Amino acid sequence: MTTIDSVLGRRVWDSRGRPTVEAEIRLAGGATGRAIAPAGASTGSGEAVDLRDGGPAQGGYDVRRAVDNLSGPLAEALRGCDATDQASVDRRIVAVDGTPAKSNLGANACIAASMAAARAAAAALHLPLYRVLAGDGAVGLPLPEIQIFGGGAHAGRRIDIQDLMVVCPGAGSVAEALDWTAEIYRAAGALMDETHRRLGVADEGGHWPDFASNEEALEMLVRAIERAGLAPGDEVVVALDIAASEFGRAGRYRLALDDRELDSDGMIEMLLGWTERYPIRSLEDPLAEDDAGGFGRLMAAAGDRLQIVGDDLLVTDADRVAAAAASGNANAVLLKPNQRGTLTETLAAWRAAQTVGMDGIVSARSGETEDTTIVDLAVGWGAGQLKVGSIARGERTAKWNALLRIEEREQAPLARPRFL
Ligand code: PGA
Ligand code: ZN
Repeated sequence: MTTIDSVLGRRVWDSRGRPTVEAEIRLAGGATGRAIAPAGASTGSGEAVDLRDGGPAQGGYDVRRAVDNLSGPLAEALRGCDATDQASVDRRIVAVDGTPAKSNLGANACIAASMAAARAAAAALHLPLYRVLAGDGAVGLPLPEIQIFGGGAHAGRRIDIQDLMVVCPGAGSVAEALDWTAEIYRAAGALMDETHRRLGVADEGGHWPDFASNEEALEMLVRAIERAGLAPGDEVVVALDIAASEFGRAGRYRLALDDRELDSDGMIEMLLGWTERYPIRSLEDPLAEDDAGGFGRLMAAAGDRLQIVGDDLLVTDADRVAAAAASGNANAVLLKPNQRGTLTETLAAWRAAQTVGMDGIVSARSGETEDTTIVDLAVGWGAGQLKVGSIARGERTAKWNALLRIEEREQAPLARPRFL
């Protein structure tokens, strides 16, 4: 009843108006599951391949080959496989692609198939997906990490920092954390309007800012928290995704907005200065993906009080996670399923992190859709933190609203990550 009967590829649209890949899987018993691949803009060089057609149509971003790969070779490989055995589904996906980076069939086709199989299995079992993943045990809810200002590759590089986010460790529930964040988002918008600093909405729903310096963004964020009537550093803390691979290479970092060029130690000094002046508790990709040494020095200086998150550095890869832990280069891993192409490999990265006591953040991409599978992953795997962008734009609120429904159903406690 849970064997895969058919796999269909479908070309659908993402939040940047680009084509993307949807997989629809039907099981012998009639249950179906659907899932859509997201897409990044500030991608790490070690990510699995997001297969695009190139050429003039859709700016080269079309996915007709990836869609055909789903309906063709992937469908053939998966037919007859038991959808409730995710590991064997994903082994077949890895085998039929046959390349380390899924460059043959495309990680976008592969992750859509992998997630659709999980959804079909949950439908056949008449259970929510997070429940299938968690088993019978109690679940904890991930603490939301929510964007207020977008920057970097998500806002025309108007500021260098990519994501300025708030986390509400003082909130008693997901519902309360979202309430507080919406007040901060609104206060930030009003403050920006007063000083003519708001240009619009960035790729992940945060305000698209027109600040004079990167530090002005931090000042404005703290003022917005205060104007919302909340206590910065206590009820609400700040998390940054520097996405430093976008402006740093070979130990040189060029902050265009501040007209500054820093070496690796200069970057570390600047970031540590910020953490003294602002209630920052988490730094994602504070240094470039080719600067593991810089990560190590930052960890040595502040890894006992700050969450240092590897995104481009670790690209959801279990081996890289283990190596980073052994060299002390990060204490948390960002988990993006499409960076690897299957759920099993994504889970392996999280298990590798848990084994060595690292924290985890399940994350969306800057190009998203209404698909909410990552919410189930964050809850079902007990990742402790969830990052899906801001509290505006439907592809973002689809995820927060899914998390609210899970909270209502489970009445489960909010996770309390170490550094937040
Ligand atoms: P991306 O951004 O999806 O464009 O890579 C998200 C992130 O860097 O965390
Ligand atoms: Zn990132």
